[in-house]
Amino acid sequence: MYINQTEMNKHVIVITGAGKGIGKAIALEFARQSSLKPAFKPSLVLTARTENEIESVAKECRTFGAVAESITADISNTSQMSQVTDRIIERYGAIDCLVNNAGVGRFKPLGEMNEEDFDYCVATNMKGTFFLTQKIFGVMQRQQKGHIFFITSVAAEKAFKSSSVYCMTKFAQKGLVETLRLYARECNVRITDVMPGAVFTPMWGEMPDDMKAVMMMPEDIAVPVVQAYLLPGRTSLEELVLRPVGGDINE
Ligand SMILES: NC(=O)c1ccc[n+]([C@@H]2O[C@H](COP(=O)([O-])OP(=O)(O)OC[C@H]3O[C@@H](n4cnc5c(N)ncnc54)[C@H](OP(=O)(O)O)[C@@H]3O)[C@@H](O)[C@H]2O)c1
Repeated sequence: MYINQTEMNKHVIVITGAGKGIGKAIALEFARQSSLKPAFKPSLVLTARTENEIESVAKECRTFGAVAESITADISNTSQMSQVTDRIIERYGAIDCLVNNAGVGRFKPLGEMNEEDFDYCVATNMKGTFFLTQKIFGVMQRQQKGHIFFITSVAAEKAFKSSSVYCMTKFAQKGLVETLRLYARECNVRITDVMPGAVFTPMWGEMPDDMKAVMMMPEDIAVPVVQAYLLPGRTSLEELVLRPVGGDINE
């Protein structure tokens, strides 16, 4: 167990895009750790647009004994997320951790990308991530404590041919991570950039078994993310790069 006595009490953890895939696995791993470490008592706040999915994940988290609630919200809606943040503060009094996981992709050749594809990806991955981070980082600055994870991608620093807009938004997220870190170091806030390669999640749609066999699973990302959070507060795991052992697929 990594956390020390003074850090054990309050863990209000907000996870965006927690209804499926990597976000769901992170929520369940926080809950699982709470059942293994009696002194670790997280309050999990799970958000996404699909109500039944996040409520079902919250329910599963509660089976581990964790406090978990679901809030249906769209991170591309800035005023809605601002209200959600205010509601969390009202209810819990603090936010200790934000996992910026919600993200979308449209994957096709450059020439086939249309304005709707562009606006859709930018609204969630760039605008939504920026304004939610801005709001919650303000809370953490006042607290002089916090941890923000960004689930970016290996596509935040490497190009993939079918991912022009996706890569653009992920490179942009990395720009935000690097800038935010300059502020975060001044106020005891940890920033972790998580860069996974291919993970088998609903984001990929239907996949043949041979492709699935060479991908990572969501829990492969969730376990190191939660361990990074549980490190002593004096230590910040700044970057995590995780790839399938055979390297990137869809080069
Ligand atoms: N899978 C991979 O290979 C891979 C690799 C590297 C990085 N990543 C990144 O990891 C993150 C999670 O990906 P995933 O593969 O787990 O995707 P996923 O299975 O499609 O899940 C994405 C989650 O985000 C939510 N979401 C999407 N847009 C949202 C919005 N505007 N507001 C609120 N919630 C939203 C979705 O729920 P609703 O649709 O109900 O809102 C869902 O719960 C993404 O940022 C992705 O770019 C994925």
